[in-house]
Amino acid sequence: MPADEIIQKKKEYFFPNTMHFYSKPPHIIKGEGKYLFDDDGRRYLDFFAGVTVVNCGHCNPEITEKICEQVKRLQHASIIYLTQPMVLLAERLAKILPGDIRQMFFCNSGSEANDGALSLARMKTGKRGFLAFKGGLHGRTTLTLSVTGIDMWRIDPFLDDEPVWFAESFAAGEDSPQQKADDSLRSVENILNAHGNQIAACIVEPVQGNGGINIPPKDFFIRLKKLLEAHNVLLILDEIQTGFARTGYMFASEYFGIVPDIISFAKALGNGTPIAAFAARPDTAAALNKPSSSTLGGNPVSMTAGLAVLDFIEKNNLCEKSKELGAYFLEKLKAVEKNHAGLIENARGLGLMLGVSMKDPSHVDIVLEKMKDGGVIIGKNGINREVLVFQPPLIIDKDDIDAVCALLEETLASLR
Ligand SMILES: Cc1ncc(COP(=O)(O)O)c(C=O)c1O
Repeated sequence: MPADEIIQKKKEYFFPNTMHFYSKPPHIIKGEGKYLFDDDGRRYLDFFAGVTVVNCGHCNPEITEKICEQVKRLQHASIIYLTQPMVLLAERLAKILPGDIRQMFFCNSGSEANDGALSLARMKTGKRGFLAFKGGLHGRTTLTLSVTGIDMWRIDPFLDDEPVWFAESFAAGEDSPQQKADDSLRSVENILNAHGNQIAACIVEPVQGNGGINIPPKDFFIRLKKLLEAHNVLLILDEIQTGFARTGYMFASEYFGIVPDIISFAKALGNGTPIAAFAARPDTAAALNKPSSSTLGGNPVSMTAGLAVLDFIEKNNLCEKSKELGAYFLEKLKAVEKNHAGLIENARGLGLMLGVSMKDPSHVDIVLEKMKDGGVIIGKNGINREVLVFQPPLIIDKDDIDAVCALLEETLASLR
C-alpha cells in the first residue's frame, strides 16, 4: 500500500489526534537490527528505536525465535491460570530491580503501569494526592495524564480535578544544573510543607524523556527522597524510558544511587512486544491485596520476550556498551554544538539517551525530515518540541555515531 493511501486511511478511520512524524513519512515495512526499511527498498539507520523500545535491535533473531516458539506452544491463558514464563521473568527481574523491590504486577503499557503504581501509593498511604514535576510525562490514562507536567499532552479538560501539585522543573538548559535542582527541590519542600498530609506519592522520571532529555544532578533523588520521607510520601520512579540499559545502567536509579518505593517499567523489556509492570518492596506491595487482574498481563509471549531481552542485554554487555558509546556520542554532539552555536542551545544525555536542544523549535521538524531523507531516523521531544532526540538501539557502533553526526553537521549547515 503506498504511504499516501495509509495516510488517507488513517484520516478516515483514526481519531484526529493520531499524528505521525514527517511531511513525507515513509511506509516502514521491515526492521532488522539497527535498520528500518521502507516500501521503496530504502534503508534507514534507526536512532529512535521506536521511541526507546527496541534496545536490542529490530526483530532481534535470538529474541524473535524464542517469541515464535512460545506463540506456537501457548499464546495466552490469562494470569488466572498457572504458566511458567511469568514467574521466571518476575524472579529474574527481582534480582536486578533496585534494593529489595521484588514483587510486581504485569500489565501491557507504561500508562497502565504508572496508573497502578499511583493507585498502590494511595492504598499504602491512605492519601489521595500526588506530587509530580513540570516537564514529566507519565501516560495517557486519566490518572497518569493528571500527573503529566507537559501542557500539550494534558488533553482531558477535567484533569485539574485530581489533587496534583507540580514542582518546578529540574531541566537546566543553559542555566546552572545545580541552581535549577536547588530551586526545584525548594518548590518540592514548599508543596510538602503545605500539602504533604494529602500527598500519597511523588512520581518522577529519573531522566525526563518527553520533557527533552533532562538530567538532574547526581544527588538530586537522594535529596528528594529525604524530603518525601519526612512527610510519608512515597517515591515512584518512572523508568519506562530509562530502563533496560538505555542510560548505561539496567535502571537509571542505579546511576543516581537511589532505591524508590515503587518503580514502573515497560517499553524495552519487550523489545516490541507489549509489556509493562510496576514493582515494589513486599511491605509496600502488601497494600495491593484486593483481587485485581489484567487479561493479557503476564501473558506467556510477552514474558518470554522479556526473558530473552534480559538474556541478550546481559550476554552482550549492553549496559557497558550504552555507557561507552553514549559518552563517545555526547562528546561528538558537543562538538556539533560548538560548530553550530547559533542554532543549538546545548547537547546533553546519559548513556544512549541523548538530546540536542535547538534555539528555534521550528528547526526541529526540518532537521528530522532532512535526516530521514539522508537515511537516518531520529526523534523529537521537549516542552516546546525543541529537542532533537537520539535513542538508538544499543547494538549500534562508533561508525554509526560518526555517520549520524556527519549527517547532522551537514543538515545544520544547510539551515544557515
Ligand atoms: C516516561 C514515560 N512514562 C510513561 C509512558 C507511557 O507509556 P505507554 O505509551 O506505553 O502507555 C511513556 C511513553 O512514552 C513515557 O515515556
